[in-house]
Amino acid sequence: MANHSCFSLFLLVSLLLAGHGVLHLEASHHVYQHLLESTSDHETQSSSASSSQPYRTGYHFQPPKNWMNDPNGPMIYKGIYHLFYQYNPKGAVWGNIVWAHSTSTDLINWTPHNHAIYPSQPSDHYGCWSGSATMLPGGKPVILYTGIIDPKPINTQVQNLVVPKNLSDPYLREWIKYPNNPLMSPTVENQINGSSFRDPTTAWLGHDNIWRVIIGSKIHRKGLAILYRSRDFKKWTKAKHPLHSAKNTGMWECPDFFPVSTTGQNGIDTSMVGPNVKHVVKASLDDTKHEYYTIGTYNITLDRYFADKGSVESDLGLRYDYGKFYASKTFFDHEKNRRILWGWINESSSVADDVKKGWSGIQAIPRKIWLDKSGKQLLQWPVVEIEKLRGKQIQLPSKILKGGSVIEVSGVTAVQADIEISFEISDFKKAEILDPSWTNPQLLCSQKSASVKSALGPFGLLTLASKDLQEYTAVFFRIFKGQQGKYVVLMCSDQSRSSLNDDNDKTTYGAFLNVNPLHEKLSLRSLVMESFGGDGKACITARVYPTLATGKDAHLYAFNYGTEKVKLSSLSAWSMKKAHIY
Ligand SMILES: *[C@@H]1O[C@H](CO)[C@@H](O)[C@H](O)[C@H]1NC(C)=O
Ligand SMILES: *[C@@H]1O[C@H](CO)[C@@H](O)[C@H](O)[C@H]1NC(C)=O
Ligand SMILES: *[C@@H]1O[C@H](CO)[C@@H](O)[C@H](O)[C@H]1NC(C)=O
Ligand SMILES: *[C@@H]1O[C@H](CO)[C@@H](O)[C@H](O)[C@H]1NC(C)=O
Repeated sequence: MANHSCFSLFLLVSLLLAGHGVLHLEASHHVYQHLLESTSDHETQSSSASSSQPYRTGYHFQPPKNWMNDPNGPMIYKGIYHLFYQYNPKGAVWGNIVWAHSTSTDLINWTPHNHAIYPSQPSDHYGCWSGSATMLPGGKPVILYTGIIDPKPINTQVQNLVVPKNLSDPYLREWIKYPNNPLMSPTVENQINGSSFRDPTTAWLGHDNIWRVIIGSKIHRKGLAILYRSRDFKKWTKAKHPLHSAKNTGMWECPDFFPVSTTGQNGIDTSMVGPNVKHVVKASLDDTKHEYYTIGTYNITLDRYFADKGSVESDLGLRYDYGKFYASKTFFDHEKNRRILWGWINESSSVADDVKKGWSGIQAIPRKIWLDKSGKQLLQWPVVEIEKLRGKQIQLPSKILKGGSVIEVSGVTAVQADIEISFEISDFKKAEILDPSWTNPQLLCSQKSASVKSALGPFGLLTLASKDLQEYTAVFFRIFKGQQGKYVVLMCSDQSRSSLNDDNDKTTYGAFLNVNPLHEKLSLRSLVMESFGGDGKACITARVYPTLATGKDAHLYAFNYGTEKVKLSSLSAWSMKKAHIY
C-alpha cells in the first residue's frame, strides 16, 4: 500500500509555488509527474531551508527530506531496532517507492542506512511496496513485501522475499532477493484481484510446523485477509478461505494479525496460541483512510479468525487512533516482552505546501499496545524510552477550574512538550443529556467544537496556542448523561482554529472514552499532537500548522469553557529535548 496516514504541524509561509495552481488529487497512489521531474530544485531548496522549517518535529521519526508513508518490517535483531519505510528518494510526493532503512537502540534516536529494498527484479520493477519481517527459528529475519510488476493504472501486485546478506551484521544493511520471486501471484485460478493484493503481514508458525501469512485484498466491496501457507517460506499455497473478511469495507491495506495476552501488559510472540490468548485483526481501509480492529478468537483447526460478538466491522468500530494514523503495523519486541505499534502520520497540508517544504509524512511515536482488562479493547501508551527526552518539569498543584477559566502553563517549551493532566468531576447534576442519535463521536466533536459551552465541558488543553488565542488546537473532554444513569465521556481534538492558513485539512476528530467519570479521574496525555485519553483507551493524532504559535511564540493552556466547575487534580509538563534522527 502506499498513500496513507495521521497528524502533524507545519506552517507554510511562502507563495512561491502558488503559480502551480490547484493540484488534482486522484484516488490512491497519485503521481505528480511535473513535481517529480524538478527534483533537483527541491533538493537544493530543502537543504537550505532546514533552519526555517517550523513544521519539522523534534522527536518524531522522519527522513531529512522527501516523501515517507507506511512503516515497514519493524523488528528487533541482536538488540537493534529496525524501521524500514516507504520512501520516495526523488521528491515530497508519493512515487518511486523504495524501502528506506534506519536503526536504533532505543526507538527514539535513529541512524540512517542505505535503502534496503529497491526495484531490481521483474517482480518489483515498478515499486517495492509495504511488507513485514518474520523471525525464522534461530532468530533469522526475513522480509515479505509487495512488488509491482506493471505500470499504472494496473499496478499488478505480487509478493516477494528478501533475506539478509550477512547475519553477523546487527544493522542488516544488505538484503538479497530470492531469485525465484515472486512467491505469490494473482492468477485466473486463484481469483485474486491483482490490483488489490498487497501488504503481507508477519508470518506465524502453527503447531503443524506450517507458516501462515495474510495479504490485504478485496472482492468487489468485501475486504479480505487472504491466507497463504508454506512449509519452507518459499513455496506458498493459497488457502481456500481467507483468515477473515468483512462486507462493505472495501480494500484492506496493511492488515495485521497478532495475539494479545489476557493476563497482563506483556506482548507475546506472533505465533503464540493458547488459553490466555486473544487475537486481533486490524485493517487499513483504502476507501476512508481509517483503520479499525476487532478482538476475537483464532480457531487453529479451521484456520479462521472470529471477531467477538458485538464487534463492529467498520471504521465506526474500534480504532487505534481516531485522528490521522494509517498503514500501521505491530511487532513483538522479545527483548522487552512488549508489542509495539508503528503508524504513519500523513500531512494535513496541501501538496503544494509539501513540495515547498520539501518533505511529507512522519511516523507516530512507537506505542506499546496490549489488551485492556475488560478484554473489549486495546490500550496504547508511548514507549517508555520517550521519557528520556523529558527535560525541565513543571507541576501545577491541584485546583478548581471554574466555568470559563483559562490558565497558562508556563515554563515549558510549549512547542515541544509532554503533558499529563487529569480532571475530577464531583457534581454531575447539570450534565447535558446525550441524544441517542449522537452515535458518531467525530461528528459530535465537530458540532460541539471547543467554542460550544455545555455544563460539563469542554475542558482540557489548548496546545500550540498563540498568545491572543487566534490560533490553538483544543484537546478536550465533554461529559453527557446517557442511558440508565450512566455518564458518557467524549474526547475531541479540534483543529478548526489551529492555523490562520486555510489550505490545511482542519478536520475535527473525536472518540467516546470508555471510562466512568463517577469513579475515575479523566486523564489526558499529550505529546503535542498525539493525545492519549483515559490512560490509553482512546488516542487522537492530528497534524497542524500554526502561523503565529510557532517556536517561542507557542503557548500552552489548561481550560474549562463549561458552565460548571471541574477539578484539575494534577498537571505535569516537561520540555522535550530533540532526538537524534539522522
Ligand atoms: C493524506 O492527507 C491528504 C491531505 O490532507 C489527504 O488528501 C489524503 O487522503 C491523506 N491520505 C491518507 C492515507 O490519510
Ligand atoms: C558481516 O558483518 C560483520 C559485522 O559487521 C563484519 O565484521 C563482517 O566483515 C561481515 N562479513 C561480510 C562477508 O561482509
Ligand atoms: C480489482 O481492484 C481494482 C482496483 O481497486 C478495482 O478497480 C476492480 O474493480 C477490482 N475488481 C474486483 C472484481 O473487485
Ligand atoms: C474451532 O472450530 C471447530 C469446528 O467448528 C470447533 O469444533 C472447535 O470447537 C473450534 N475451536 C475453538 C477453540 O473455538
